[in-house]
Formats: sequence, structure tokens, C-alpha cells
Amino acid sequence: MTDDPDAYLSAQPHTVTGTSTAQTGHPITLRLPHKADASSIHGLIEHCPPLDLNSIYTYLLLSEHFSETCVLAEGPQGPDGFVSAYIPPTKPDVLFVWQVAVHERVRGRSLGSRMLSELLARPHLAHIRYLETTVGPDNAASRGMFSALARNLQAEVSESAMFDSCLFGDSGHDDERLIRIGPLRLPPPDI
Ligand SMILES: CC(C)(COP(=O)(O)OP(=O)(O)OC[C@H]1O[C@@H](n2cnc3c(N)ncnc32)[C@H](O)[C@@H]1OP(=O)(O)O)[C@@H](O)C(=O)NCCC(=O)NCCS
Repeated sequence: MTDDPDAYLSAQPHTVTGTSTAQTGHPITLRLPHKADASSIHGLIEHCPPLDLNSIYTYLLLSEHFSETCVLAEGPQGPDGFVSAYIPPTKPDVLFVWQVAVHERVRGRSLGSRMLSELLARPHLAHIRYLETTVGPDNAASRGMFSALARNLQAEVSESAMFDSCLFGDSGHDDERLIRIGPLRLPPPDI
């Protein structure tokens, strides 16, 4: 594996990419999740509050049907990170990011940002013009990560209401506000 993650990223953008050991302290492989990963992804999410812990079946479905829009970051001790995302059926130019999780042993070392960048660099997502996600009012880490992404992509950010807290019943869940990043730049044309 090269020490230059960007070189590796551009060399193999689709199924497997890498991050340098210097950033995370150990080698990490970025790849599409498989159904055999669902249980360990569930274990990672369990350790990443305030994320909602979904059923293992949810992570099976994501790995089986949406792996092309999800990222697993695999380290020597198991999953270090996971991004779930999908293209909403009525918005073909939008990538909706559902959950981003980075294990606390590697937080603050750009893994969250790198997983999102890897996703947007996949050739089959080259048509995506907007990245959308929702954030709670107090999730500074999530807001910081998506702001940094927008800055790096030189894209605008807008915020609007999406899921009001009352829609979550009695669970005490915060509002989830929609963050929209874009328009993203078109990739350079093939010459
Ligand atoms: C949010 C999370 C995924 C960030 O992962 P990470 O790998 O530590 O983030 P990165 O190192 O890539 O940081 C990306 C940017 O976010 C900022 N950031 C990261 N953690 C932050 C924090 N706690 N407070 C404020 N900003 C933060 C970084 O400063 C960086 O911005 P910069 O490039 O301007 O310096 C991780 O903290 C996590 O898993 N949290 C628990 C689950 C969660 O809240 N997920 C997000 C909701 S979907």
C-alpha cells in the first residue's frame, strides 16, 4: 500500500482504497461493506453515540442492497469506521448520508472526512450534485465534519427543517435538520 492515500485513492477508486498509517496509527482499508460485516458494523454503531442503533437486519440490508453507496473502514481490530448512504428514489442527483461512525480510537484523524471523500470519488457516483444529511442541534462533531467537507469541496451549505422532534414520538429524540451541500462540481470530462 502506498504512503500517499490520495495516490492510492485515484489508483483504485471503486472497491478498495487506503489511508496512511501515519494518520490513524495503523493501516486501514476503505471498501464496500459485505453482508458478513453487518454484525460488526452493528457493534461499531453501538459504541458511537449519539447515533441511533439500528437492528443487525438494517445493516444486512445496507450491505446487501446499498453497498455501492456505503463505506467500511477496516482496521486490524475490526471496523474503524462506517458510512451508510443511499440515493433517494425521487432525487437521483442527491446522495443522502444516513450515518457516519468513526471508532473513538481513531477519531480526529480525518477518517470521517476520508470516507465521505472516497464515496464521492466513486465513478458510479460521478453524477451526484448534492450531498444531504441530517444533524441534531448539538452534534458539533457531525456539523464540523460536514462543514469541513463543504469547505474542501468549495460547495455551498444550506440548512432547513426536516424531521421535527415530535415525529419521533415519545423517544425524546432531537430535531433532525437537513444539511444540503452543493452543487458539487462536475468531474473533468474524459478526453
Ligand atoms: C462525527 C465523526 C464521524 C467524525 O469523525 P472523525 O474521523 O473524528 O472526523 P475528522 O477527523 O474527519 O474531522 C473532520 C472535521 O470535523 C471536525 N471535527 C471532528 N470532530 C469534531 C468535534 N468533536 N467537534 C468539532 N469539530 C469536530 C474536525 O475538526 C475536522 O474539521 P477540519 O478539517 O476543519 O479540522 C465521529 O466523531 C463520530 O463517529 N462521532 C459519533 C457518531 C456521530 O455523531 N456521527 C455523525 C452523525 S451522522
